[in-house]
Amino acid sequence: LLSAVAAAAVMSGATGAMAACDDGEIVIKLSHVTNTDRHPKGIAASLLQERVNEEMNGKACMEVFPNSTLYNDDQVLEAMLNGDVQMAAPSLSKFEAFTKQFRIFDLPFMFKNIDAVDAFQNSETGQAMKESMTRRGLLGLAFWHNGMKQMSANKALNLPTDANGLKFRVQNSEVLKAQMAALGGSPQPMAFSEVYGALQTGVVDGQENTWSNIYGQKFFEVQDGITETNHGIIDYMLVTNVDWWESLDADVRDQLATIISEVTETRNSESFKVNQEAKAAVIAAGGTVRELDDTARAAWVEAMKPVWEQFVGDVGQDNIDAAQAINA
Ligand code: LMR
Repeated sequence: LLSAVAAAAVMSGATGAMAACDDGEIVIKLSHVTNTDRHPKGIAASLLQERVNEEMNGKACMEVFPNSTLYNDDQVLEAMLNGDVQMAAPSLSKFEAFTKQFRIFDLPFMFKNIDAVDAFQNSETGQAMKESMTRRGLLGLAFWHNGMKQMSANKALNLPTDANGLKFRVQNSEVLKAQMAALGGSPQPMAFSEVYGALQTGVVDGQENTWSNIYGQKFFEVQDGITETNHGIIDYMLVTNVDWWESLDADVRDQLATIISEVTETRNSESFKVNQEAKAAVIAAGGTVRELDDTARAAWVEAMKPVWEQFVGDVGQDNIDAAQAINA
């Protein structure tokens, strides 16, 4: 990729993909759904693009398409299997059609913070998950962090009973549907790009997400407030098409893998901070944030945790025990 292209992109104010790759360069399209600033995934993807285009110039060229501009999460894995895109970083909740192992990441109150998630992912079990879908054509390259989820609605959510009877947008995940049902809510699976409009028009009453997504999509503008429940996590797997990956020359693949692992380490260690900044930005923009005292938090745990029982068979009691040991 020529630096003139970068300059042209800056001059035209473009923040998305840089379209032009040089002849002979391997084109790597990375499609994702979030914003690029103040977002752990957005920043990681941009850094990956920058480093590939600088360090692999002449060999490879990366084009990042953020904000669901190319595909949404329901489409992107199909597109990858068809060879239309080479990388994506969907949340772990979006792999339902490929594996049930990842359901452990959606279980409410399974991980106490993002460090616990990190430790679990770096265990032997976690690392093996990257190769759990190779038979289906997908290879995990890295886990990318976002952070802890919070709950919001068009009314104040102090106790779990406040969620009773409300419609909540969820990612298309059986665990998340069961979690909202456990609260007496009605789960409505929906693409990320449609959530703001659905909240605004009242198609749904509430949603759950991380601070960076609540800020990036401006959900706080169309909700009564955000309750800091920290009840679950959103994390990602950077994935690729296994055939495409294996078709690369070994030196290209190794260089790419090294860049990916360095970007992962650098950005994962900043993900908590990025979310805290997004939380501060929500408050600065006039959003209401509600914190839970110990009693209220215990009530949310009690309401949601029974969901684990429904999915033990999918995720394995040994894995639940391993996650809990990390929390301790
Ligand atoms: C969502 O759909 O709410 C999230 O998975 C979006 C994202 O990629 O963070």
